[in-house]
Amino acid sequence: MHTGIDSPQGIWWKPAHGAERLWVAVAFGWCIVLFAMMPLWHLKGQQNPSGIRHRVDPTRYYQRVQEFIATYKVGEEAGYPIVAPPPGSDVYLLAQMWKWTPILKLQKGVEYTLHLSSLDLNHGFNLNPVNINFQVLPGYDYGLRVVPTEAGDFRIVCDEFCGIGHHVMVGKVIVTDSAGIPAPSTGGAQ
Ligand code: CUA
Repeated sequence: MHTGIDSPQGIWWKPAHGAERLWVAVAFGWCIVLFAMMPLWHLKGQQNPSGIRHRVDPTRYYQRVQEFIATYKVGEEAGYPIVAPPPGSDVYLLAQMWKWTPILKLQKGVEYTLHLSSLDLNHGFNLNPVNINFQVLPGYDYGLRVVPTEAGDFRIVCDEFCGIGHHVMVGKVIVTDSAGIPAPSTGGAQ
């Protein structure tokens, strides 16, 4: 008779069945493959962010964003500045309760360094409909080298719960065909 304090009699001293040993070997082998994929994918994977991370004071980042807006502002939509930075430049996006500033106007096929940071708390950058996700943290400037591959109208949705207005925290990125934009400073010559 067994009670809760007597362990049942085991059979651990009997050798494992061949199928079980094979299963353990296969599972172990697969573990090793998955383990190796982590460093391998970091070096070889196409989807890895080429992130540049720095600490940044949130108020200084805020000021940098305002400077960026003042320099490259091309218009306004619903009170939000639309900013068209030149190819190859540093692009600053600010997350705060509950908005993304500014609206970015980028060119297709051109590389930018997209900086993400927050003024207050943890937000989530989720680019729709392409489903690209990054954490946006106050105190950290996360710089991503990005090349827009598709022209169109994209939405940035906050996917990290950030309070009462979380669900309205939607931003916008406009990607234009590079041919559609006049070259800066040359008066539109192509
Ligand atoms: Cu910002 Cu949710």
